[in-house]
This record gives sequence, C-alpha cells and structure tokens, in this order.
Amino acid sequence: MPCPFIGSFSQAFVKNYGSSLMKQYGKFCPVLTRSFRSLGNDETKCPFIQQNAIISDAPKEMTEDISEPIEQYQYEKFFHEQISAKKKDYSYRIFRKVSRLAADGMYPQALEGAENRQVTVWCANDYLGASRHPAVQDAAINAIKSYGTGAGGTRNIAGNSQMTEKLEKELAKLHKKPAALIFSSCFVANDATLSTLAKILPGCLVFSDAGNHASMIQGIRNSRANKQIFRHNDPNHLRELLAQSPSGVPKLVVFETVHSMSGAICPLDEMCNIAHEYGALTFVDEVHAVGLYGKHGAGIGEERGLQHKIDIVSGTLGKAYGNVGGYIAGSTLLIDTVRSLAPGFIFTTALPPPVLAGSLAAIRLLASEEGRSLRAKQQTIVRYLKLSLLVAGLPQLPSVSHIVPVPVKGADKVAQVAESLMKRGHYVQAINYPTVARGEERLRFAPGPYHTPEMIDSLITALTEAFHENDISFNEFMKNGTCRECSMEYKVDIAYEEPYKYPMQVA
Ligand SMILES: Cc1ncc(COP(=O)(O)O)c(C=O)c1O
Repeated sequence: MPCPFIGSFSQAFVKNYGSSLMKQYGKFCPVLTRSFRSLGNDETKCPFIQQNAIISDAPKEMTEDISEPIEQYQYEKFFHEQISAKKKDYSYRIFRKVSRLAADGMYPQALEGAENRQVTVWCANDYLGASRHPAVQDAAINAIKSYGTGAGGTRNIAGNSQMTEKLEKELAKLHKKPAALIFSSCFVANDATLSTLAKILPGCLVFSDAGNHASMIQGIRNSRANKQIFRHNDPNHLRELLAQSPSGVPKLVVFETVHSMSGAICPLDEMCNIAHEYGALTFVDEVHAVGLYGKHGAGIGEERGLQHKIDIVSGTLGKAYGNVGGYIAGSTLLIDTVRSLAPGFIFTTALPPPVLAGSLAAIRLLASEEGRSLRAKQQTIVRYLKLSLLVAGLPQLPSVSHIVPVPVKGADKVAQVAESLMKRGHYVQAINYPTVARGEERLRFAPGPYHTPEMIDSLITALTEAFHENDISFNEFMKNGTCRECSMEYKVDIAYEEPYKYPMQVA
C-alpha cells in the first residue's frame, strides 16, 4: 500500500531526505512503528529506505521485487575509446617535460626530461624573453610582496585594483583606443567578446577567416549567430560574401594579423576597407604580433599605420609580453558593453597582482628603445634561420613573419623528427591535427633575440641528420657548405649584432 505521507513528496526529495524524514516522522507512522518494533527499532532495515537506495544492506529478499536494476553508463570505457582513437591517428598529445631557464645567460635554454638535460628551446612564444627580463621579474616580485599572489575574487567582488586600471589604460594607449578590458587569457577574451557581441547585436552576421584560431571559432559558435567563412586572407572572397549580405544588418569581420601556424600576415588595410565599405565592424586578433611589430610593439596595425581601421583589437599578455592573460581594446561603449554582459569576463577571478605588474612592465619595456632593439635582433636571427634552411636544402613554408614553419608530412613522421632533434639537444614541438589540418603537419620554429648564429648552425646540422634518420628526402644540394652541382662554396652571411645586454641597473 503506497504511503500517503511519503507519496506527497517528489521522488528526488524522498531520495535525498528520506532518511531524515524517517528519523523525524517515523515514530508517528502506524505501519512503521509496528515494523520498528518487530525489527528491534533498527531503521536501517526499513524497506522504504532500502527502496530509495539510501541504505544498501537490507536483506535481498526484501528488495528484490521492488527495486529495478539500474544500468550504469560505462564512462571509463567511453574515455578509453576516445583516447585510443587519438593514439591510432597519432594526434594524441604528449607534453614534454621542459623547464625553461630564466637565470642570467641561460635563456633560451631549458632542462628537459627526468635527467634535466640542457636543451635549446625553439618553439616558445615568449618571443623576446620578456618572461625573464629583470624589469618584468622585479615588477612581479614587488607586486607579490605588496599585494600578495592572488586577486581575491572577481572584479565585482574583490574590486578593481589600481594596477588593473593602470594596465587597461596602458593597453588602450598602446592601441590608440579609448578603452581596454583584460581577461584571464586571450582565448577567453576572443570567446567572451565574440560570443557576447554576435549574440546581442540583433541579427548579427559574422564573416570569419578560414584560418582563424579556435578561440574565435568557439566565440562565434557560442553566439549562435549566422556565420560565413571566407578563404584565408582572401579579401576578394570576403568582398564576395559581404556583397551578398543584406545591408543595414550588424556585421562582424573576424581575422588574425600574424597567423600563428603559417607566419603569414593578412592584407590588413584591404580587409578593413572592405569590411567598412559594407558597414561591418572589424575584430582583429593581434596575438602573435603584439610586442613584436610597430614602433611601440602594438602590432601590425601600428607597423602599417592602420590602428584606426581596427574596431576591436584582441591581444595576449602571455606570449611576447611574457605573462598570462588577454585583452580587447575598442570604443568606450563597446568595452563597457562587453564588461557588463560577457559571462567569461564577469564570473571569474581577476588577474593576480604579479601578472598585472609584470604585464605592465613588459608592455613598457617593449614600447621602449630596448624593445625596438630586441625586435631588430629577433628579425635578424629569423632571417638567418630562413636563409640557413634554404642553403641546407631543407624545406620551409613561405613566411613573412618571425614564425618559421618546416613542413614534415604525417603526424608520426613529424613526431619522430621532433624526437630526433630532442636527442640532439634541440626542443621544438611537433604540430599536428587539430592545430593544423591533417597532411599539413610541421615543426614551428620561433627564434628570438637570444638565439645565436651558432645555435642555428647546430640546429641545421641536427635537422639534416633528423631528416636522414627518419628517411625524409629533401633537396640536399649543399654538402659541407659546397654546392653539389658546381662546387661553389656558400655560406649564410648576414650582419648580426650581439644580443642586447640588459642594463645592470634596472629602473
Ligand atoms: C591566434 C591566437 N589567438 C588567441 C590565442 C589565445 O591566446 P592565449 O594564449 O592568451 O589564451 C592564441 C593562442 O595560442 C592564438 O594563437
């Protein structure tokens, strides 16, 4: 007979609170008091409690006829299948044990593996060594001593620190915009900004470059707005798509300046002009350009005098600026809208004091004369690597930036070549799906101002050996600096200055 008292509660309520109900009201129940007496007052033997799976040790015969067997989903089996699929297609990621060294004279060296072997790092996005610059380190250390390690909450709860406001002002000034907003990373900045704007702008249409980073793709997807994808860095295709779109409707055109995996740089002027001709706002990711291009390191927009054509710029504090975090800069009202509506900004702990202070110091460093000198040295050593690859007959993808991609087709092959290089003291990460399309696997080198020509020469020797070791054919027209065809000697020779020495006294 169903209990009229228990039956008045929902199943979930009974499941959660059945035991307390029994304790509190069981003594008033005529049926239960009888059972209690016969069970010696042991409520754990109560069939009601047992049925609701609160107590598991009631005799089997009391529950057989009332409890249905619950089929359990095989979670671990599912996860195993997912991982096996990744391993089978060689896209399973194994992170190397690598600790980059920050002590004076050690950058860009790292300790690798369990034995702490010293290797040269070629793939870090700490492009100019800002993470270990004394001015940046000192700022971060002093901030910890004054304000502690953590922010203490979201900006709404813990408040806006003076450093947060200073950093946002500095970023706005850098990008020549009225306002800026910082986020926990640029992935979050891109996702939160695009998902919010494209969702709230009524009937918004998004035009997204086919080569866009996952953070922008995710933001656009999360907005559920209608999107059109134009061919990578192709202004004609962008125009074609925009020309077919209705006028008077809000539109966003979304792309990157320096492409992270190919090193290509977009035709910024043309793309912005086309977007504006059709009444769209431009959202431009300068993640791999900030700190690295332009007189003050504001990116390709600054280098080409086009900052005013970028309506919303996004950047990172985690690559050339050597810290962590991301940001956007734009008009005051746009920034206030994202600040007020984007969950990815609102509901998360603010950036901590050492990161705020370290980022501010890094931005000022890279906007200074010393920053310009670091950038010039980076460009020189990048040129040296590109020429050295050419002379050695090793392949490279055409890149006009500081990113030097060496194609090695096949996820297994590229991993093997990276392993061969590591054995020879050079660390570069193999890039494969989903970061690049299958068949477009590569090694991605990003030499900086502290890589020397000797390091590059050693890398070229190691890379040549690694290609041989893994049976990868390439056009090896040079042997020991001499052309195989005409025996002419050839040596890469570019004007190379010594790396900038940090001043002993740091202001
Ligand atoms: C083009 C691009 N945009 C955004 C991001 C995300 O930046 P963050 O590392 O600050 O999250 C990355 C990261 O690699 C990137 O390559």
